Amino acid sequence: MSPQQKSDLTVLGIETSCDETAAAVVRLGADGEVAVLSSIVASQIAEHRPYGGVVPEIAARSHVEMIDGVIAEAMAKASLRFADLSGVAATAGPGLVGGVMVGLAAGKAIALARGLPLMAVNHLEGHAVSARLDSRIDYPFLLLLVSGGHCQLLEVEGVGRCRRLGSTIDDAAGEAFDKIAKTMGLPYPGGPALEKLAEGGDASRFVLPRALLGREGCDFSFSGLKTAAARLAEGVSDPIDQRDLAASVQAAITRQLVERTAKAMKLYAAAHGGRGLRFVVAGGVAANGAVREGLQKAAAAQGFSFTAPSLAYCTDNAAMIALAGAERLALGLTSGLDAVARPRWPLDEAAALADPTHVPGRKGAKA
Ligand code: KG4
Ligand code: ZN
Repeated sequence: MSPQQKSDLTVLGIETSCDETAAAVVRLGADGEVAVLSSIVASQIAEHRPYGGVVPEIAARSHVEMIDGVIAEAMAKASLRFADLSGVAATAGPGLVGGVMVGLAAGKAIALARGLPLMAVNHLEGHAVSARLDSRIDYPFLLLLVSGGHCQLLEVEGVGRCRRLGSTIDDAAGEAFDKIAKTMGLPYPGGPALEKLAEGGDASRFVLPRALLGREGCDFSFSGLKTAAARLAEGVSDPIDQRDLAASVQAAITRQLVERTAKAMKLYAAAHGGRGLRFVVAGGVAANGAVREGLQKAAAAQGFSFTAPSLAYCTDNAAMIALAGAERLALGLTSGLDAVARPRWPLDEAAALADPTHVPGRKGAKA
């Protein structure tokens, strides 16, 4: 993979930034081949469902209870001992900091006890490399990272080297799916529930606002859509109307994602001389069939190859953290045991600092 890498690298990855406790072992071959030896994800969805969303204190406590068992299971499934590892990677942010601290501390403990290098990985960097877990895709590529906490378009030149082309100015797309689904009385997490309800629905039935239409740049905005959908949901109780509203909401979110991505594709193609154009979509919302289909069409129309991770690697998992860690290790990019857990950690820190509208709180570096 990198010129320095002479042998295979086997890395344990740990992910605890939201509501999944996950551990995985990934091998990155000297020839660039990637093998997922194990990937264990213990979901906390059932614990958070009564509250309609993730409760940070419950998440942190649950990570503490689950982490040792999940790591042991990942090692056993890979038939490896800690001594067989080349390094340990753990998510160090962005995310719910109580949870991030649990996984990062576990990673540090293993690294210290076994004398292994530690890689503190940005969760978004994990999503950025996730399509490389099951497809051979080379850098650079244009990435749409679209999940519950994040919605951004990035030019990815390599691990740790990203340039932001656009991001949401309010909610992330997954957040919009979840919040609208909640107002429609659907269970948490709302995205998959809304997609299921939308099956066979009439997407042209309800008119929803088209935010930022014709506006320069590649930013996203979903708050107007969210408010409009919530208002419509109040007057809708008939199952057919509910189904059509779900289909209309899904179409509206998809339309904005596709429009803004098509714009970014034009910019990216111009900057790259129109050759070797690759597009990748990653993050939980990439599991949505309508979103995938719309993006696939846009990619084909603009001469881009299209890659999306398999469904298991779209949502949060530790295999993507292990691979990002292995790619970092191959480049000698290791972290000290003093690495800190960060609730906010933009992938393109330069852009986040330079653009004053992207301040924490309003737009949020998580976005
Ligand atoms: O990547 P992820 O597991 O966690 C974050 O880092 O945010 O993404 C979770 C998000 C949630 O908002 C969830 O509703 C959304 O991805 N999601 C979907 C679908 N599956 C997951 N949204 C729409 N359709 C789906 N099928
Ligand atoms: Zn995620």
